[in-house]
Amino acid sequence: MIIKPKIRGFICTTAHPDGCEANIREQIAYIKSQPALSDKAPKKVLIIGSSTGYGLSSRLVPAFAGGADTLGIFFEKPPTERKTASAGWYNTAAFEKAAREEGLYASSMNGDAFSNELKEQAIQRIKDDLGQVDMVVYSLASPRRQDPQTGDVYRSVLKPIGESYTNKTVNTDKAEVYDITIDPASEDEIEQTIKVMGGEDWELWMKALSNAGVLTDDCRTVAYSYIGPELTWPIYWDGTIGQAKTNLEECCARIDSMDGIKSAHVSVNKAVVTQASSAIPVVPLYIALLFKIMKEAGTHEDCTEQIYRLFADQLYSENGPQTDDKNRIRIDDWEMREEIQAAVAKVWDQVNTENLSSISDFAGYQKGFLKLFGFGIDGVDYDAEVDPMRDVNLGS
Ligand SMILES: NC(=O)c1ccc[n+]([C@@H]2O[C@H](COP(=O)([O-])OP(=O)(O)OC[C@H]3O[C@@H](n4cnc5c(N)ncnc54)[C@H](O)[C@@H]3O)[C@@H](O)[C@H]2O)c1
Repeated sequence: MIIKPKIRGFICTTAHPDGCEANIREQIAYIKSQPALSDKAPKKVLIIGSSTGYGLSSRLVPAFAGGADTLGIFFEKPPTERKTASAGWYNTAAFEKAAREEGLYASSMNGDAFSNELKEQAIQRIKDDLGQVDMVVYSLASPRRQDPQTGDVYRSVLKPIGESYTNKTVNTDKAEVYDITIDPASEDEIEQTIKVMGGEDWELWMKALSNAGVLTDDCRTVAYSYIGPELTWPIYWDGTIGQAKTNLEECCARIDSMDGIKSAHVSVNKAVVTQASSAIPVVPLYIALLFKIMKEAGTHEDCTEQIYRLFADQLYSENGPQTDDKNRIRIDDWEMREEIQAAVAKVWDQVNTENLSSISDFAGYQKGFLKLFGFGIDGVDYDAEVDPMRDVNLGS
């Protein structure tokens, strides 16, 4: 079939297998252009949420900068003869192919990471294939979670708390800047968002893995957060999602003190274009402005550059991770530099539909969005017939 992007708001319902593969190869080439990770780097890594965004990079970096075997878990749509897979499926197929070429073990599980069943299956897979893992990355982003004990379904919302919030946002389809007002969340919505995007499930994973004896003595674990600038705080850090991230930090402290786990950290990462971030009001406009300023400053990074820095300069560096006063690793340090944020604040007041493309890197934002689905990549012939079927190693 010939595969073109079909965009509906902040979702693209098609993905290009060759484009996703080209993207993966590009990430691997970047990783290989960097120094290899130290001897301390993990050799057997479990990544929960491994198919796109920060989780995908957390699979690529230990594999291709450290020679690690990886087990990846995700929730993706496989292809049929008539319909493309979701991008994360193609990313995984391409990742596994490249890992196999290097003689690395790579297998995957496609299902609901929140469920007890998947946790049990993952433990069995580790026992059978890897024995133990020395690192667990938790990088889920999901709009819903079914509680494995009660069966209750929780949904996360992106809303302010206490009062409504009005700010500029961008309609990414129409390239229009307009004011959006978001009503505050109810107590129930706050609680539900914490249930979905907080740390409860990470803690359940770590307990289950530890109790099953599949973690090495020096096993580290990390989960990801975002804080961002004050202009997005009402919708992010002070909003429902910020409450969930505060809960993630509380769970992190408990995991860190669990027997048999060397360390647990929350890493605060930079704002990047992913399927998760494109769904947040206001944030895509901030990202478009930020990208232009960081590109001009020569400090722009995407997921893979960020995660390489997390592994090489923080988690597995000579002196171990440097943390802030809340024990968080801050690889958002370049984004949060005073001069970068002052420059963003200045253009934030000025940006409108007319000057969007000159004042911001909206083109870079759109390119980044299409790239998530394997589109707009140099060297890929998008007019050519392509077979949508790609294999992922889901175990025997
Ligand atoms: N995107 C950003 O700008 C940004 C910045 C800082 C921190 N973060 C954080 O990074 C983490 C990952 O976010 P992302 O932006 O990379 O998201 P993403 O949407 O690219 O990836 C989410 C991953 O979770 C998997 N997933 C979702 N539901 C699942 C389920 N029920 N079972 C199994 N797998 C499931 C998906 O398959 C995918 O692999 C989140 O905690 C997010 O808050 C993101």
